Amino acid sequence: MAKLQQTIAAVDPAWDQICAEARQAAQDEPLMGGFLHACILHHKSIEKALSYRIAAKLASNEMSMVVVREMVEDAYAADTSLVQAARADLVAIYQRDPACHRLLQPILYFKGYQAMQAYRVGHYLWKNGHRDLAYFVQMRVSEIFGVDIHPAAQIGKGIMIDHAHSIVIGETAVVGDNVSMLHSVTLGGTGKEEEDRHPKIGDGVLIGAGAKVLGNLKVGNCSRIAAGSVVLEEVPPCKTVAGIPARIVGEAGCDQPSVSMNHMLGPDA
Ligand SMILES: CC(C)(COP(=O)(O)OP(=O)(O)OC[C@H]1O[C@@H](n2cnc3c(N)ncnc32)[C@H](O)[C@@H]1OP(=O)(O)O)[C@@H](O)C(=O)NCCC(=O)NCCS
Repeated sequence: MAKLQQTIAAVDPAWDQICAEARQAAQDEPLMGGFLHACILHHKSIEKALSYRIAAKLASNEMSMVVVREMVEDAYAADTSLVQAARADLVAIYQRDPACHRLLQPILYFKGYQAMQAYRVGHYLWKNGHRDLAYFVQMRVSEIFGVDIHPAAQIGKGIMIDHAHSIVIGETAVVGDNVSMLHSVTLGGTGKEEEDRHPKIGDGVLIGAGAKVLGNLKVGNCSRIAAGSVVLEEVPPCKTVAGIPARIVGEAGCDQPSVSMNHMLGPDA
């Protein structure tokens, strides 16, 4: 067993850290031992643990945990970029969310992380012609997490969705890498456009709680959208927009607002 642990640590230090955190948690809170074993300690890799966790959340009377788990495992085996993105999302949350103290937390408890990994599997199914399975995943993610992401939407890696109540991302939306968003964000259509009708969000963008970005418009790299804004026009890179309708109120204030998570407006931003 010790030899296996050493090998895992050498090959995958992040997974080794997650296992160490789970062992510590089981020691500190024995009542959680069964849960921690089932979700983490029973598995040999992060992808096996994620397959189990996603299946445990999405399974219902309509589709068993065994079937959902097999579907996720098959997706992970066929497309390794899914697991790479899952790792990048995990690190993003660990770095950016002050309430995340262990890599373990998002896998076990953060619905923004769980919903994003389930969406990624749904997107894989969509791209590979399994549209009804993809719609099924979208429905369950929406029912369970309150996160409604169309499986055709294109979302980069290193994504943090904090709190994650009431997130809506439409069919033709594109989201770049290293984007952070808070709860109640909509990337939707205006209702006036057809076909390609949803926002295109650049890399490194920070989208505040309750912001509504509507229409096929570009939000430039490393910009910030203030909480509660309604964005109806293109946002240039590295700017902060705020209000209804949103207007430019200043610079974004740093290279990577989605990473620094600085929500201040004004000269101190
Ligand atoms: C209201 C809406 C239908 C646009 O109606 P419209 O009459 O065609 O409006 P326009 O786009 O011509 O804009 C008219 C003015 O209203 C403003 N405006 C438009 N939508 C607005 C909104 N949601 N909130 C505040 N102001 C809005 C525009 O900025 C513009 O202001 P200006 O004249 O000072 O420049 C549309 O913007 C909207 O909000 N649709 C709802 C979409 C939605 O809920 N999507 C989610 C899908 S998941």
